[in-house]
Amino acid sequence: MSFTFRNFPAARDDLRADVLAGLAARPKSIPPKYFYDEAGCRLFESICAQPEYVLCRAEQALMAHYMADMATAIGEVDAIIEPGAGDCSKVRRLIDTLRPAHLVVLDIAGAPLAAAAEGVARDYPRLAVTALGMDFIRDLEAAASWLPAGRRLIYYPGSSIGNFAPAAAAALLARFRRLAGEQGCLLIGFDLKKDPQHLHAAYNDAAGVTAAFNLNLLVRLNRELDADFDPALFRHYAYYNPVEGRIEMHLASLAEQDVHIAGERFHFALGETLHTEHSYKFRGDEFSALARTSGWQPAGEWTHDGFAAQLYR
Ligand code: TRP
Repeated sequence: MSFTFRNFPAARDDLRADVLAGLAARPKSIPPKYFYDEAGCRLFESICAQPEYVLCRAEQALMAHYMADMATAIGEVDAIIEPGAGDCSKVRRLIDTLRPAHLVVLDIAGAPLAAAAEGVARDYPRLAVTALGMDFIRDLEAAASWLPAGRRLIYYPGSSIGNFAPAAAAALLARFRRLAGEQGCLLIGFDLKKDPQHLHAAYNDAAGVTAAFNLNLLVRLNRELDADFDPALFRHYAYYNPVEGRIEMHLASLAEQDVHIAGERFHFALGETLHTEHSYKFRGDEFSALARTSGWQPAGEWTHDGFAAQLYR
């Protein structure tokens, strides 16, 4: 078995600077990458199991249905690279089919990533597994020196690309283009535009797991930035904005209140929201127009149950 783990310096300074800047902005906002502390990672896995959150299961079914066809379109690859790999559950199907020599997984949550990637290394003794605990939005280029030579496939499933505003998504795709190299390719999954009622339900599950995930951000800030949020005074508020084509996730203040964070004071008006995430939905042609502007050429598309995967070269 071959397993390497490298944890890049944890970015507590970034958290503080990003949170203070986000709370000083109007509307108030916090980058979604900070959801993923230990509890956040567990809650996210639980979101994927909620009956209303069909996205994960639609993607799994899509991959199961079309894997052989995708493998033909992808061709031989030496390395699979997955940014935001989380529990490494999605990439296993690709490893089974494409049989690469190397797997490189990246995630901002280093400890859970290392445990998951080591599990993959154990299950695939001939695969060289490298796990990089890093904020790839900040440090992606630092991953380059860990990538083996040969043909690379970047795998970015789960509609994570939808969590970036269009300009930031295009910028990230352009960085993926450079990381993939001349011969490289990209397999990317995203959620399609659909009935707003279904979208609304997906981000407002009856068990309240998405609400707990959203509110956990406040618990994290209390712990790591010495903040004094009362989570009972904020409400998970997520809705589909059809004009922008995105789910917007907020924490709405249930009272007029002041909150202290890292020694600074912030005022929330009654009903004012802290914006925590966007989740953009696309039509296939909208997404390929975005990817083209980042230097990718379309090479395949598969859809299933409101979800799409596209291949680029
Ligand atoms: N990227 C996926 C999405 O936008 C998964 C996801 C990220 C998510 N953060 C989330 C799902 C918060 C629910 C709530 O749907």
